[in-house]
Amino acid sequence: MASVLSLLSCVVLVLAASFNPTRGQLDPCFYDKLCPHALPAIKAVIEETIAVEPRMGASLLRLHFHDCFVNGCDGSNLLDDTPFFTGEKNAAPNKNSARGFEVVDRIKDAVNYACGGNVVSCADILAVAARDSVAALGGPSYQVQLGRRDSTTASAAAANSSIPAPTFDFDRLLANFNSHGLSLVDLVALAGGHTLGFARCINFRDRLYNETATLDSGLASYLKSQCPLSGGDDNLAPLDDTPVRFDTSYFDRLLRRKGLLHSDQQLFKGDWGGADGLVSFYSSNPEAFAKDFGESMIRMGALSPLTGSAGEIRLNCRRVN
Ligand code: HEM
Ligand SMILES: *[C@@H]1O[C@H](CO)[C@@H](O)[C@H](O)[C@H]1NC(C)=O
Ligand SMILES: *[C@@H]1O[C@H](CO)[C@@H](O)[C@H](O)[C@H]1NC(C)=O
Repeated sequence: MASVLSLLSCVVLVLAASFNPTRGQLDPCFYDKLCPHALPAIKAVIEETIAVEPRMGASLLRLHFHDCFVNGCDGSNLLDDTPFFTGEKNAAPNKNSARGFEVVDRIKDAVNYACGGNVVSCADILAVAARDSVAALGGPSYQVQLGRRDSTTASAAAANSSIPAPTFDFDRLLANFNSHGLSLVDLVALAGGHTLGFARCINFRDRLYNETATLDSGLASYLKSQCPLSGGDDNLAPLDDTPVRFDTSYFDRLLRRKGLLHSDQQLFKGDWGGADGLVSFYSSNPEAFAKDFGESMIRMGALSPLTGSAGEIRLNCRRVN
């Protein structure tokens, strides 16, 4: 019965998707015939992984974001550096920060076994892993579009310039999202991804010591004990009060001047301009946040995918075939 229902919802959503030009050539049913066991295999690895280490859900969500914002969702950020190839793993936004690559390797092995061959792209693995991680941590389970193929190239320069930095002010955050064809609603809903996970001291030190006017003083003194003026660059602090639970605590905190990153607090400045209204709305409407987050993830997941015969299905997500 469950599989009949999921097949039905797939067909219904394909009809709906065919009226939506932003979804390009991706298709939620892409693996239904090619490998019906692919999606359950991914979900099983995600659930096992998160049961052992809940933070990994956050890390996998972020990997999909960092893939899609750099020349589209094509698995480019999974390629290892070699003496002859420079990938994105050591670009500024990823170095000592992006994590979850071993989980992607385990998923790749599991789907290749479940499918009896190499049919599922690394880019699709990231999209499904992000969705299943969000769902496993209490968030929405939206329908993921599929059929992406993997790049044969990567760009450290594009990773440096295309992923927004935590030092950005509101206007720059919005301009960055607009440059990817995403809106203000997408910016606020997707920044809500910071309902999960942690950041390193090096990314919020300036805010602690230089932005006292916009930072709650109780939180500031606690965070200073975790993140001294010098040293402890990699010490972690949670992005909201419940870093392994998908909820609206991130938005609640912004309303109380408790955003961890400068970029987070830029989404609520207290002047009712910019994104203030949306942050306030999501903080008291968890269902609207969950729905908009799912829709924005689908839009982000559709950024310039390689489809058809473009790119390849990598055998190993860490290197081109
Ligand atoms: C709006 C612009 C954004 C900026 C400036 C930003 C910046 C950051 C920074 C600096 C960190 C901490 C990294 C570290 O300290 O190692 C982080 C973590 C994270 N980001 Fe973002 N981010 C943004 C948007 C997003 C989006 C759109 C998503 C996903 C939809 C996302 C998901 C995450 C998650 C889940 C973590 C925690 C990862 C973990 O614990 O491993 N972020 N982000
Ligand atoms: C990316 O940024 C890092 C850190 O700022 C820098 O060391 C590196 O050279 C940059 N790479 C490219 C290709 O621009
Ligand atoms: C605070 O801002 C000043 C002036 O911009 C800068 O020199 C200093 O390095 C900053 N301190 C921290 C801890 O970021």
